[in-house]
Amino acid sequence: MRYFVLLLGLLLQLTAFLLFCRGFFPTKVLLTPAEVEQFSTPYPNNYHDPEPQFNKVVLMVVDAMRADFLFSNNSRMSFAHSLLNDGYGVGFTAFSNPPTVTLPRLKGITTGSTPNFIDAVLNIADDDTSSSLGDSDSWIRQMFLENWNINMFGDDTWLKLFPNYFAKSEGTASFYVSDFTIVDNNVTRHLDYELSKEGKSYWDCLILHYLGLDHIGHKGGPNSSNMPQKQEEMDSILERIFKEVVLQDPNSLFIVLGDHGMNDVGNHGGSSTAETSAALMMISQKFKGLGLNNDIKAPIALNDDYNYFSKIDQIDLVPTLTELIGLKVPINNLGAFVPQFLELYSNEEKNNILLKNALQLKVLLDKSHGGVHPFPEMDNTELLEFIKNAKEELSRSSSAYDYPFIYAGIGLFLIETLASYMFFAFHFKDHFHIAFSDVVFFVTYSANFIASSMVEEEHHLWWFFTTVYTAFIILKNLRGEKISWLGILAMLVGLRLLKAWNNSGQKHNMKANMKLSTYLSQLPENIGPNIYASLLIISVLPMGIIVNVFGKPESEMVFWFYLQFERSSAT
Ligand SMILES: *[C@@H]1O[C@H](CO)[C@@H](O)[C@H](O)[C@H]1NC(C)=O
Repeated sequence: MRYFVLLLGLLLQLTAFLLFCRGFFPTKVLLTPAEVEQFSTPYPNNYHDPEPQFNKVVLMVVDAMRADFLFSNNSRMSFAHSLLNDGYGVGFTAFSNPPTVTLPRLKGITTGSTPNFIDAVLNIADDDTSSSLGDSDSWIRQMFLENWNINMFGDDTWLKLFPNYFAKSEGTASFYVSDFTIVDNNVTRHLDYELSKEGKSYWDCLILHYLGLDHIGHKGGPNSSNMPQKQEEMDSILERIFKEVVLQDPNSLFIVLGDHGMNDVGNHGGSSTAETSAALMMISQKFKGLGLNNDIKAPIALNDDYNYFSKIDQIDLVPTLTELIGLKVPINNLGAFVPQFLELYSNEEKNNILLKNALQLKVLLDKSHGGVHPFPEMDNTELLEFIKNAKEELSRSSSAYDYPFIYAGIGLFLIETLASYMFFAFHFKDHFHIAFSDVVFFVTYSANFIASSMVEEEHHLWWFFTTVYTAFIILKNLRGEKISWLGILAMLVGLRLLKAWNNSGQKHNMKANMKLSTYLSQLPENIGPNIYASLLIISVLPMGIIVNVFGKPESEMVFWFYLQFERSSAT
């Protein structure tokens, strides 16, 4: 009977969890090709596609290149600054939609849609093939369908996303963040051939993805001593591509961008301004003399708001690029054509470009409204307004929570919790203090999830509860209950060891504090993890012994805190 009730409790909990998830993870508006037919608004008769401006593209992704790394007076990329000041280059701070991790960002940059939370998880689950874009529409796919030859060198995430579209490719593994040079040299060594006359005749689009800068960030933060040198290296590659491609061919477009930024300690994934402010620069002969930077001169004084040139969304690159090279816009694009580049076109063409952008977004809007709505004739200002509003509405709906489900989930959780504590109080009277401390702990623990900075310092909580609970056992011992003093000593030693693994979260991570993980991380890759694992096991052993010998619920409790503490310090 008891166990039946417990099982029922578990089932209730699972239901509550699923209800909550149903409301918490938004379902975004996505179109299939058949629905595009169904929901599209016909173009007016006088519409025609504008002539493409470019037929050759180089895309250089520098992983985690924050806007200030390229544009600020702290940046070492002086050749890039000269391009901006000469008018060849147009600079932007491009908002990279969270989660700011490479895989979802690449999806955004190529499909124009905002990624979902699941993508961030799959960014880590390397072997999962569902992270492939398959036949989702992207400008890569559009290039492929129009027989563009695409060569790709760099981060192998591209190969996972687009297994079939590249004519030639070599991936670099992004797993070992302690490698700053090989990942980049493995990309650069291809340039000798790819930028030669013969090499250039084989590709229409060249994609390079450099990982070194991101790795430096993860290891040493944005102010790492390796950073200036890496920026100079990236700048020299930029110079090389400018001289060997852009200057040789007026119909070539060179795009340099960071897929996301990084925070003060060099990590990314979240939604802070530092993580979402990525650099973007478009370079071409055709931009010279158009004044697209509005007379802003590079470098720009370092500032906390990441105000460097115009601010756009990173996904705006998608409709802009496809328009500039004369391809179809990916069907699920939520981006807007970047207005600066309208200057390349005649008045009539400007109107056509905005109309096309508006009508493409309208297909998505109409699907979410469930029917094709009429579209009045609009002038350019009105079209820009329509595009802005459509974009806002669509991205809002892709991040909208379904509150009734969320509340139902939370409500059920509460009921289930109360019921199980009552049940516990009734049937396991002797151990009620355990259940009580459990509640205290979980209430505190959930409060800890309010801010990401608190999650990053989570170990303090585990440390506190482990210590308090150990003290509790000692007190019980003093009052005559039996747990051997030897066991308690072992427990204290284990606790001290645990604290030594990693005694800091994000905040003090860069300070030179005494912790074993600092020394262990400097060990070679083939033995470091093994040593670390063995030490972890050794520090859990004293606890394991205590639980086995005494089997008291108290020691189980400490053991549990202990394991969690270990988990959080290991990460
Ligand atoms: C770099 O290229 C070499 C030679 O092809 C290869 O053995 C190595 O694994 C590559 N390194 C990375 C990080 O991709």
